[in-house]
Amino acid sequence: MAETFRVGLLGHGTVGTAFAEMLAERADAIVPVTGLRPEITGILTRSRGTFDEVLSSADLIVELMGGIEPAREYVLAAMRAGRHVVSANKQLLSQHGEELWACAREHGVQLRFEGAVAGVVPVIRVLQESLVASRVERIHGIVNGTTNYILTEMARSGLSYAEALGQAQELGYAEADPTDDVTGRDAAAKMAILARLAFSTPVHLDQVVYEGIEHLTGEDMEYARDLGLGLKLIGTAERVDDGISVRVHPAFLYAGHPLASVHGPFNAVTVESEAITEVTLSGPGAGGPQTATAVLGDVVSAMIPPASTPETTDSLAVVNDVESAFYLHMEVADRPGVLAQVAELLGMQGASIRSVVQKGLGENARLVLILHPLLESRFYAAVQLIGQLDFIRSAPRAIRVIDEEFT
Ligand SMILES: NC(=O)c1ccc[n+]([C@@H]2O[C@H](COP(=O)([O-])OP(=O)(O)OC[C@H]3O[C@@H](n4cnc5c(N)ncnc54)[C@H](OP(=O)(O)O)[C@@H]3O)[C@@H](O)[C@H]2O)c1
Repeated sequence: MAETFRVGLLGHGTVGTAFAEMLAERADAIVPVTGLRPEITGILTRSRGTFDEVLSSADLIVELMGGIEPAREYVLAAMRAGRHVVSANKQLLSQHGEELWACAREHGVQLRFEGAVAGVVPVIRVLQESLVASRVERIHGIVNGTTNYILTEMARSGLSYAEALGQAQELGYAEADPTDDVTGRDAAAKMAILARLAFSTPVHLDQVVYEGIEHLTGEDMEYARDLGLGLKLIGTAERVDDGISVRVHPAFLYAGHPLASVHGPFNAVTVESEAITEVTLSGPGAGGPQTATAVLGDVVSAMIPPASTPETTDSLAVVNDVESAFYLHMEVADRPGVLAQVAELLGMQGASIRSVVQKGLGENARLVLILHPLLESRFYAAVQLIGQLDFIRSAPRAIRVIDEEFT
């Protein structure tokens, strides 16, 4: 009979319940791999158990409460008491990661967090283990399933943003309060964690620039189709000059980009490095059983020592003014010379035009341009001047375009 490996569970909600069920179901299969039989020996919720009881009867703590406090305090206390910790808490790791990793190193325990980014997609493991010897240049991710579902439905069915959000809420892909998802904050937390691992430099959620999807319209989707582009909420972490840039914003992708074909609530992450060109991982990004699978995988890994806790080896500057290609949408008066004047203002900032679509007549005239990459500050300087031209009928709208294709 295998010895018991005691697991203390903090939080018994969507993921915690699925995790406890899965652990009981899979315990027999885990014995031959680890020589130990995992068992839940204590559960903490707001109305059940105490932290001290759960800790004292556990070899490892699984934190599935969410939020910052008291999760931070409990995770630190568990590691100080010599317990390995597994967590899916992206907010905690993206804001207090350095303190937590330092504590894990100091006490010689593991802190694992595969479930915190992209659900069951094993991107943390790939960055920490498989690609640990590669110099990662860039990561692009669709790391929020709610927004990817909304954008997919807007493109597929012509729904407005509000209609697609309502549908996502009905189907359980979006919370009643979807703010963190639709503003890009949830994706920003995940990109901070990925950037930290990829570049071995401290990255805090506050350093990630993010923009959401609330302002996108069905019209953007129509133009995108005409131009052969797909619209996604993309997280980017990349090396820029001697620093890094970490950001989340809607972006157009050409069909040859691996993320262009990621639809619905799925997540995917593309890792680029000179030696490997690119590797893309994709799969379900959230949900109780899916996240629980990643959490249980971490528990099994912690049962088989050892794994290193990531140390920072660099202290790279976070750069916010980076080069991007842009989609620029303008409602214009229908008269000659409009394109020439817009092109002149763009040209003064060094922008060059890749494609042009003109649609509509009279009151409905629209001009849409795709620009080759230029510094964002220069682009927005030009847009400000374009907005003041007398033939512009409403504020010009801009969306970034990721113009890499891997075909
Ligand atoms: N849901 C997903 O699809 C998903 C995906 C990836 C990552 N995650 C992450 O996984 C974690 C858990 O998410 P979830 O969706 O399972 O959350 P949830 O359904 O809200 O469950 C949270 C659990 O934690 C307990 N809890 C919260 N605050 C507590 C406190 N102060 N003291 C004691 N217990 C407390 C709650 O207790 P009560 O039962 O008493 O309320 C509940 O059992 C979060 O960090 C989340 O970001 C979730």
